[in-house]
Amino acid sequence: MPVSIEVNGEAHVLDVEPTRRLLAVLRDDLALTGTKHGCGEGACGACAVLLDGRPVASCLLPVASADGCAVTTIEGLARHGTALQEAFVAEDALQCGFCTPGQIVSATALLESTPRPSREEIRTAMAGNICRCGAYPKIERAILRASGQDTA
Ligand code: FES
Ligand code: FES
Repeated sequence: MPVSIEVNGEAHVLDVEPTRRLLAVLRDDLALTGTKHGCGEGACGACAVLLDGRPVASCLLPVASADGCAVTTIEGLARHGTALQEAFVAEDALQCGFCTPGQIVSATALLESTPRPSREEIRTAMAGNICRCGAYPKIERAILRASGQDTA
């Protein structure tokens, strides 16, 4: 079944099995490997992408559910460079980096809806993004920095 999706501003008509997960299509068919396969069960946030601006777990989403939607991956965010990426670097907010694309995608959605989030709002919004390296305090500081707030 053809599925029409816009990915990072580019229109695609894909002839795919509709139940395939969006994550697999992004990584295997479109070579967008910035989005990571972590748990594969919707529990870690490594596979987060924006679907019409909302963060979703692409490992759970059948690609047919994205038909007619705009998908933004970490590559789409990276293309333009964001204050968040600079803040993650400045705050050294990663160790292995595996969770980082998902963290930045989720934080992008947070700052879109809440430009100056409190620490509590950050923790709530980012609760679905697991970091096995435990970089949470630095990730929180990076989001504060990107939103122009005191990180102390
Ligand atoms: Fe999708 Fe973990 S890989 S939530
Ligand atoms: Fe390693 Fe988060 S930096 S999982």
